[in-house]
Amino acid sequence: MPGVLGISWHAIKHWYYSHFCRLTATVLTEADIPRVQGFYCGSADWETYVADWLKSGEVIKDMKNPRRQTQTWLFWRRRRLVGFGSLGKTRRPIPAGTPQFVDAAIIPFFGVDKDYHGKPRYASRDDRYAGQIMNHLIHHARQFDLPYLCLYVDPENDRAKGFYRKFEFEDMGRGKNNMDVMAIRLA
Ligand SMILES: CC(C)(COP(=O)(O)OP(=O)(O)OC[C@H]1O[C@@H](n2cnc3c(N)ncnc32)[C@H](O)[C@@H]1OP(=O)(O)O)[C@@H](O)C(=O)NCCC(=O)NCCS
Repeated sequence: MPGVLGISWHAIKHWYYSHFCRLTATVLTEADIPRVQGFYCGSADWETYVADWLKSGEVIKDMKNPRRQTQTWLFWRRRRLVGFGSLGKTRRPIPAGTPQFVDAAIIPFFGVDKDYHGKPRYASRDDRYAGQIMNHLIHHARQFDLPYLCLYVDPENDRAKGFYRKFEFEDMGRGKNNMDVMAIRLA
């Protein structure tokens, strides 16, 4: 009986978050740059780096670079920008440091506004705002039909690493610019 109650409670919560906390994704274009100027995801070096990539318009340069083919989405709730995520293709040694280069999908940048970190508080991994964005990126990465989805993360960025581990990203060693490489297998 407690098991049944547990499942029902989980289903009710999921229903609630799906209806009232669902983010809307829009594809970022140059016209969005003025609208993202209020985005703030923290004051640590790696956090300002993430926000600056978006706000400075560097994101647009990467989108136009044919080698990177980066796509970026903005995620909104009630007209407020909750976060953004980007996706591209790359060829990298995975695990890092090995001579074996593989084609992989990559998340170049990903951030959630500080006001929304850890929110909605009692939601499951997939219903959290950051989780919704990650699931969107994984869904699109699968369409590339590549074996890995990888990303680079600052070795001191424990929160992001904790978040990626929840989504089963594994540590793949230290990559270029002294950043940690994490990846999941897609196929
Ligand atoms: C990374 C980011 C998108 C994650 O979003 P979030 O809303 O903070 O993520 P969640 O709260 O769902 O998950 C974070 C998890 O990290 C873990 N965590 C949090 N602080 C931690 C710490 N100091 N050490 C280790 N793990 C930590 C927790 O397990 C937490 O999950 P839980 O609350 O379910 O236990 C967000 O923090 C962010 O935008 N950070 C700034 C930009 C950034 O660093 N981007 C990534 C660049 S690679």
